[in-house]
Amino acid sequence: MSYRCRICQSPVLPFMSFGRMPIANAFLRSKAEFETEYFYELKPALCPVCKCFQIVEIPRPEQMFHDHYAYFASTSAVMSRHFAAMAEDLKKRYMTGPDCFVTEIGSNDGITLQNFARDKTRHLGIEPSANVAEAARAKGVQTLNAFFGVETAKQIVAEHGNADLFIATNTMHHIEDINAVAAGVDILLKPTGVMIQEDPYLGDMVEDCAYDQVYAEHMYIWSITALNNAFGRHGLEVFHVEHNDHHGGCMRYHLGRKGQRPSSPELAAALAKEQQLGLDRAETYVRFKQRCEESRDRLMSLIDGYKKQGKRVAGYGATAKSATVINWCGITPGHLDWIQDSTPAKQNTFAPGSHIPVVAPEHFRANPPDAAVLFAWNHFKEIDAKEVAWRKAGGKWIMPVRKVEVV
Ligand code: SAH
Ligand code: TMP
Ligand code: ZN
Repeated sequence: MSYRCRICQSPVLPFMSFGRMPIANAFLRSKAEFETEYFYELKPALCPVCKCFQIVEIPRPEQMFHDHYAYFASTSAVMSRHFAAMAEDLKKRYMTGPDCFVTEIGSNDGITLQNFARDKTRHLGIEPSANVAEAARAKGVQTLNAFFGVETAKQIVAEHGNADLFIATNTMHHIEDINAVAAGVDILLKPTGVMIQEDPYLGDMVEDCAYDQVYAEHMYIWSITALNNAFGRHGLEVFHVEHNDHHGGCMRYHLGRKGQRPSSPELAAALAKEQQLGLDRAETYVRFKQRCEESRDRLMSLIDGYKKQGKRVAGYGATAKSATVINWCGITPGHLDWIQDSTPAKQNTFAPGSHIPVVAPEHFRANPPDAAVLFAWNHFKEIDAKEVAWRKAGGKWIMPVRKVEVV
């Protein structure tokens, strides 16, 4: 099988395979669905030309984003506060003119735009998953139920005019046809308009061996270099970046039309760090593959250690990321009795691939395990504080990626 880069069409070669994978958010509602479960092979590659990190085989978008999409962004109080702060910052930086207009793709349940809707700023969310779009509308966030691309951009301009701001948080890694999005952004933005993108950063993933960032819905893991190459084809460039620790390390990229805004010292420093990490070099990913194998072996030996002593192990947070860990490491219902998750839509389902039951937090309280694999490791502080009673009684976290350890 030969593959081509989705951005620049150059031939690309996967540097490893994580094996047969289900769709990360495809929680199964009954055992009858086990028969027809969809699988693909999870194979990442680095484009040797535009340096975009991508997975080469992906399911059709309709199989991933639909009317029962399981991810409601506002579930996390920490992320709600994070995006509220982002909205205030962006208002000050880029929304100072009269009658400004802000657009957002992957606006989900309105986690970010609600902060603009509240003070009556002209806004529009573009969200293809009908159930989360409905949740946003219920909060007073104007939402178009559509996939973003050239046609959607033209429609928005015709109805609302050009935008001052275009936001995409944790969304640009979901969209196969980045050229269509970038062409859409070019149509949608005013000449002085700004695009903000924020998502898990390739530098953190490689540095920390956080391989669970890779799954079909995260078909790209972006770097500054790759984003500049991809959006540079459509007249845009990164002029500023800000790093934060959410989701295990995210980069916020500020893009404008080429030459429109001065590039910041933070951008220069972050680009130098990319060079130092070797994000654009094939050898970096040969080493990454070895580290993923070591990480898998260590996690399984920790879980097996508990099981051999007859201890009870469960999972905490049926995250999308957990699908990669569970299926790559071969974690089964024999290893974990169940996975607790606070999202109602995920409760009383079976985790994709492994078919480990997903249960409500009350189940965790009623049947405290000896150890819990913390798949939602990026929410460690919030969760550890919530489970203080269990911790005091001797409950242990098993950290599944990065530093794989018992804490
Ligand atoms: N912005 C939120 C939600 C991210 S989840 C946050 O940062 O937490 C990604 C969202 O992107 C999902 O709600 C999904 O339905 C949406 N999405 C996927 N493809 C899209 C497309 N082509 N255009 C717009 N939104 C898309
Ligand atoms: P995320 O890492 O993609 O944000 O997903 C976090 C998952 O963990 C989500 O399904 C909700 C779940 N979760 C809990 O079960 N309890 C919690 O306290 C938090 C913060 C998340
Ligand atoms: Zn390429």
